Amino acid sequence: MANAPREQWSSRAGFVLAAVGSAVGLGNMWRFSYLTAENGGAAFVILYLGVTLLIGLPVLLAELTVGRGSQRSPVAALQHYGGRAWTPLGMVFVAAGFLILAYYGVIAGWTLRYGLMAFFGGFSGVSERFEDIAQGPDAFSFHLAFMAITIAIVAGGVKAGIERAATVLMPLLFLMVAGLAVYAAMLPGAEEGYAYYLDTDFSGILSREVLTQAAGQAFFSLSLGMGAMMTYASYLGRDANLPNGSVVIAGADMGIAFLAGLAVFPMIFALGLSEKVGGSTLGALFITLPEAFAGMGGVGRVVGLVFFAALVVGALTSAISLLEVVVSAAIDGLGWGRRRAALLSGGAITLLGAPAAWSLGVLDVMDQVANNVFLLGGGLALSLFVGWRMQDPVGEARVGARGGRGFSLWRALLRFAVPLVLLYVLWDAVPGTLRAVFDLFAA
Ligand code: TRP
Repeated sequence: MANAPREQWSSRAGFVLAAVGSAVGLGNMWRFSYLTAENGGAAFVILYLGVTLLIGLPVLLAELTVGRGSQRSPVAALQHYGGRAWTPLGMVFVAAGFLILAYYGVIAGWTLRYGLMAFFGGFSGVSERFEDIAQGPDAFSFHLAFMAITIAIVAGGVKAGIERAATVLMPLLFLMVAGLAVYAAMLPGAEEGYAYYLDTDFSGILSREVLTQAAGQAFFSLSLGMGAMMTYASYLGRDANLPNGSVVIAGADMGIAFLAGLAVFPMIFALGLSEKVGGSTLGALFITLPEAFAGMGGVGRVVGLVFFAALVVGALTSAISLLEVVVSAAIDGLGWGRRRAALLSGGAITLLGAPAAWSLGVLDVMDQVANNVFLLGGGLALSLFVGWRMQDPVGEARVGARGGRGFSLWRALLRFAVPLVLLYVLWDAVPGTLRAVFDLFAA
């Protein structure tokens, strides 16, 4: 076992920036706007808000409580509070880190490539070339480049690597997204984009499918269900205010997701490309929007550069947190040094991304398995763990917090509401996902 003293964030703001960096990523810019437009506009935003408050926020606080309280990586943290029987859940968390980062790195690689395209040549003809950009040796090369940056930052340590990157990158990201939203508002036709994005339709909103998508998105976007937030909280001191931190993290995550949608849709509509929005989540971002940029001429290259730079930055601070789960487990559990852990586990994850870099079908199934099985299942197990197994979670969550109201509600949500909603959703999501896996192997 490594005996070096455990690293800590240099300040509470450093932790919050890193955690917001984990939360804000491709999920906000790529999935949220698409899901909203597809599922009832403002009605979906309200549903998403509700799901985030009812299940996202309690699970986030649960992760922070276990992490800060145990001062350990997820595997050891669950053992600490639950005994050996809970070791496998920690292992599942680490496995989820492998799986998610493997395909997340591939998509991030595309964004890196699009950013470079904006800089060097523009986007003309990109829609015909998407399938070649997204699959094959090129896709793998950019995935490799992205992973190399991620590994280098994680190898640098909690303070000098992760916190420093977040402190520089997160304000930059916010400025870029806000700038894009302002620019988009000035485009002719912006109103139609807003109307499409937020067109309120409550009719489909109470279906199980939409609820499943909202819950899956809440977990993915808040980086919940696999110990990422738990790992970051394990580098916090005892004086941190956890309920407060949870609210700030969730608020920033939702705010940036909403803002990104305000940027994306007016740009698509201003160029009259609205009929091409449907089809796939990836299509809107990597085909329709670049086409819009290409149609704007020189301005489009600048706007496109800012847009894809924002995506790269968001993806990077998220990928860092995914890798850190695996790295911290290797440091604590195997006694490895940080550099070695980052290089070896990051290298293995890069290789695991190869199938996703070769086939969009594989990437899609990996995404479904990660969300519908690992994150929602992990969230269910975690809420049961903190709600029923852990001794006095309220006592631990309360340390550093002011005021005592709300904690018993939190525990009741973890015991009953969160598991029930997640079971309801999983009941539907798991069979469909298994079918998708089966189809992939049968094909
Ligand atoms: N939340 C990130 C996004 O929205 C992705 C992410 C980072 C993540 N760490 C995670 C998702 C842990 C699930 C679990 O892009």
